[in-house]
Amino acid sequence: MEIARRAAGISPSPTLAIDAQAKAMKAKGIQVINFSAGEPDFDTPEHIKEAAVAALKAGFTRYTPVAGIPELRQAVCDCLKARGLSYEPADIVVSCGAKHSLYNAMQVLLNEGDEVILCAPYWVSYYEQVKLAGGVPVVVNTDAATDFKLTPDALKAALTPRTKLLILNSPCNPTGVVYSRSELEALAEVILVHDLMVISDEIYAALLYDGLNHTSIASLGPEIKERTIVIDGVSKTYAMTGWRIGYAAAPRAIATAMTDLQSHSTSNPTSIAQKAALAALTGSQEPVAAMRNEFARRRDRILTGLRELPGVECNQPGGAFYVFPFIGKLLGRRFRDRVLNNSTDAAAVLLQEYQVAVVPGVAFGTDPYLRLSYATSMEQIEAGLERLAAFVRELQ
Ligand SMILES: Cc1ncc(COP(=O)(O)O)c(C=O)c1O
Repeated sequence: MEIARRAAGISPSPTLAIDAQAKAMKAKGIQVINFSAGEPDFDTPEHIKEAAVAALKAGFTRYTPVAGIPELRQAVCDCLKARGLSYEPADIVVSCGAKHSLYNAMQVLLNEGDEVILCAPYWVSYYEQVKLAGGVPVVVNTDAATDFKLTPDALKAALTPRTKLLILNSPCNPTGVVYSRSELEALAEVILVHDLMVISDEIYAALLYDGLNHTSIASLGPEIKERTIVIDGVSKTYAMTGWRIGYAAAPRAIATAMTDLQSHSTSNPTSIAQKAALAALTGSQEPVAAMRNEFARRRDRILTGLRELPGVECNQPGGAFYVFPFIGKLLGRRFRDRVLNNSTDAAAVLLQEYQVAVVPGVAFGTDPYLRLSYATSMEQIEAGLERLAAFVRELQ
């Protein structure tokens, strides 16, 4: 049997694969420290769960409008208003997770051969979703020296007559980098001059530290808003990864096309999960503040611990819940009988010999780095740092 070219060319998500490996080891009773998961370790706040239970008990179990129930789309508009964004419910499409929103957006924006600019390190699914939509990913590399930020000059240098779309992700997975308003203004100028579209993935907008503020590129003016699709969801902010609710805010014609596309794939996202998301967006935001404070504490601890490791360097992330240390100075060194040649070798030794799960930077298009998620308990972070220190000591 032959798999269609469209699907045969897709690589599985490396982050989900490592997470699955770590979970399988755990299930066998092995004490794995899992820094690979891109999800909060907190439980979904109680009032959100109760809203889903109430919806279930009330029999809210039928099809809903494809793009989501009107009150949820209104709640999304209200939340985006706080970001300086004015949308109407008809501009909002609720989907089965932000990943699905991104997928829909690429499917309706891209024609065969359209070039899409991605800034490496990038979130793994952008690359594959661009290819699935017939687009061509064009990767612009960044590194720690420039705080992993796309500059207007680097963007201009990557443009060709076929460039259609830029994907921005602030705060960023995997680096935690947050673009300032002036940096986004400078990028917006290039985008407007060259008539590009933008997908602005803002799924970590609520998880900012050090008093940083989130700016959505779409909030910079009506022209750039007309060229932007804003993506967000409840997964990360409200510890709701399993509920699968994400959303897009887009110019009306694009929102309509995304809704029509979705009407032939998933139809509406799960009815009771929508009610839970509504409770998340409209209810108390105190649990979010508590989770954010805890993430900030963990970030400080893991950053200090990593910077104490000889040969490891790490920029300070301003948002999300990842650190992205540079391990170039460890490469070429020997762990027992094997030489570490890249981040994949380092991640493999860490998992096999120290039972520490991390994601190699190469999975995000940038080497030699590792990505560690600190969405795990302080005890796990302490234990993981000890194991990382033992690993670095063992290298010769
Ligand atoms: C940058 C980024 N965008 C989108 C998503 C997808 O989120 P969801 O779970 O809502 O599909 C993730 C999840 O890891 C992410 O890191």
